[in-house]
Amino acid sequence: MKRASPATPKTTFVDPLADVLRPGQSIELLKELHILTRDGKLNQDSRRKLKQVFHLCQFIEPLLDEVLGRQDTLTLADHGAGKSYLGFILYDLFLKARPGAHIYGIETRDELVEKSRDLAIRLGFDRMSFLNETVAESITAETLPAQIDIVTALHACNTATDDAIRFALAKQARHIVLVPCCQAEVAAVLRKHKNESFGKTPLSEIWRHPIHTREFGSQLTNVLRCLQLESHGYQITVTELVGWEHSMKNELIIATQTGSPRKNARDRLQQILQELNLQELETRFLGPQ
Ligand SMILES: C[S@@+](CC[C@H](N)C(=O)[O-])C[C@H]1O[C@@H](n2cnc3c(N)ncnc32)[C@H](O)[C@@H]1O
Repeated sequence: MKRASPATPKTTFVDPLADVLRPGQSIELLKELHILTRDGKLNQDSRRKLKQVFHLCQFIEPLLDEVLGRQDTLTLADHGAGKSYLGFILYDLFLKARPGAHIYGIETRDELVEKSRDLAIRLGFDRMSFLNETVAESITAETLPAQIDIVTALHACNTATDDAIRFALAKQARHIVLVPCCQAEVAAVLRKHKNESFGKTPLSEIWRHPIHTREFGSQLTNVLRCLQLESHGYQITVTELVGWEHSMKNELIIATQTGSPRKNARDRLQQILQELNLQELETRFLGPQ
């Protein structure tokens, strides 16, 4: 009997986008955000950017589910939204089919706000709004609800992250997601009181050299932010946004309101400010006296 010759393997088409795109994801949106080219291709840079945004989304999706598991509505405010990559992708992947969900993007650059408004209209993402205001101004903006469930701030410049924390506290946010940018304020105050600190504490060696002042200032800022949030009843997770190669700043802080402030957080915060000659930052981290 004649043996059947082995079947020649069929060339199966491998969709080059299959490993990065999610089912149901809007190709139109990715083109508009210039993640895909006009003819639907993805270059290496965009592939990386998209993977990074998805990686962050993996942390945010359970927070959306948690809120929508308890109630039918969800409000999310994204501060320093830029082109609103994050807001658009969250809406597209998780909130398109949830009629009670609304995303607010807050951004100071008018042209970015205009572009985002225009894009939301074109895509029919009608539960996205964009405010052309600073984070600080948005705390009292009448166009925003009194309560916001989730607050995000991704590389919001300098003290905009601190304003986003104030916003979250004022709006009684359930969850806060921060990827801080460089904050220069704490380093500037460390620098200002350097001589005084030398006489006061050997710890001042930690920020004696200018590069160390900047780096320590930056790390200390996030430590103070965490204590501030814990003193207001948030439980904190601090982790690294792996693969965030386009930026040196890849610290991810996720805070969830538990209703029970960590007992010594406020005292510790106050003691650190005192020990490091940073008392003038009490209003920033401890609130108005
Ligand atoms: C580095 S970009 C990040 C954009 C976006 N979140 C992202 O990760 O792609 C920072 C954005 O924050 C905006 N911004 C800076 N300070 C702000 C403030 N005080 N209030 C609102 N937006 C601010 C800037 O205009 C800029 O678009």
